[in-house]
Amino acid sequence: MAAEQFSAVEVIRTKRDGGELSNEMIDWTIDAYTRGVIAEEQMAALNMAIYFQGMHRAEISRWTNAMINTGERMDFSALADPSGRSLPTTDKHSTGGVGDKITLPLAPLVASFGVAVPQLSGRGLGHTGGTLDKLEAIPGWRAELSNEELFAQLSTVGAVICAAGAGLAPADKKLYALRDVTATVEAIPLIASSIMSKKIAEGTGALVLDVKVGSGAFMKTEAMARELAETMVNLGADAGVNTVALLTNMDTPLGLTAGNAIEVQESVEVLAGGGPEDVVELTVALATEMLAGAGISDVDVRAALNDGRAMDKWRAMISAQGGDPDAKLPVARESHTVLAPAEGVLLKLDAMDIGLAAWTLGAGRARKEDAVQAGAGVRLHVKPGALVRRGEPIATLLTDTPEKMERAIELVQRAILIGSDSDRPDMRLILDRICAN
Ligand code: URA
Repeated sequence: MAAEQFSAVEVIRTKRDGGELSNEMIDWTIDAYTRGVIAEEQMAALNMAIYFQGMHRAEISRWTNAMINTGERMDFSALADPSGRSLPTTDKHSTGGVGDKITLPLAPLVASFGVAVPQLSGRGLGHTGGTLDKLEAIPGWRAELSNEELFAQLSTVGAVICAAGAGLAPADKKLYALRDVTATVEAIPLIASSIMSKKIAEGTGALVLDVKVGSGAFMKTEAMARELAETMVNLGADAGVNTVALLTNMDTPLGLTAGNAIEVQESVEVLAGGGPEDVVELTVALATEMLAGAGISDVDVRAALNDGRAMDKWRAMISAQGGDPDAKLPVARESHTVLAPAEGVLLKLDAMDIGLAAWTLGAGRARKEDAVQAGAGVRLHVKPGALVRRGEPIATLLTDTPEKMERAIELVQRAILIGSDSDRPDMRLILDRICAN
């Protein structure tokens, strides 16, 4: 057996003492961990050292590359439409939030401008929902596609939302599971390399990151979200992917729905030229960035929502994956409406509490093998900033498991804060735009 180039203890000690890991050390660490030579407890100690000591830009870049090299790399450079016109690719990643259904209208909207969108997505865990769980509320729709099916659909329809295969950066799966049980998920170099290794391996030409800030997000403060966004856009730039990030507010849910079928329904409203203004605003802003990254500017993005072009793409995208875009969506068996406890301005509808309520009602899962309820969730009747009267409906809770209702009602009641006009919160949705430096 060949001798190992380094010892895990040497790598851990270097980082623990604030040193910089060399390229060789990083390549060896990721490879040796994947091979099982570095034990779980040693990787846990290294993650904790990274959490406290951080990493330089060059270290994070090398770490990300080493993770990419553990798996396959997709290549869309030969992608062309049926007439042979080559297709640029562009993608979006959100760091996760409550009611974040933006991918659903966004992918067909961008594709309606002749840019291909390979949107490889995941399922939800915890209080934030998963894009695939939402789309699986549509009867017949299929998340798992082979690489051949993915390429064929991108060429003919231009938009695909499907499950990311297990072959992209497999080291991340092992590392993420370890971080999850050792309180090291929150280390910015580790979050950034985890997200970007999968996105770079996916092979998109341009990437837009929606980095959420607030109670319902990973990053609770703007300063932390900004640091994460800057780290990720620099990683994208170092890998030759045209990357920008928007910092967006996640103190309150996006739109008026948090759940699966109800979020699909709201997305279809947006594709039909309606829907809540915050969902439309963010969809249009992200689409504009994605198109600019693919070299298309000076286009009227909103017009494609209003004139049916994005809806046509949606219908083609859903049908291509076996779904029936006209099918009736599942409806929960039980509902309960929470009323305003007082009169005044609705100052807060806390995203985390609403997300937890939707999850409790059955829209999300506690363990990755759990099933989700398509019809469960929370439908909001008002948004923060609205004037409400005592007894006016604030939110309707939906579930097939009524025994969950009481806990969810408590969470929604806790989410509500009513006060006076002078305490109105900052209602901006898009807080900043971050480019590589
Ligand atoms: N999402 C990821 O894919 N990885 C992280 O580390 C955090 C969020």
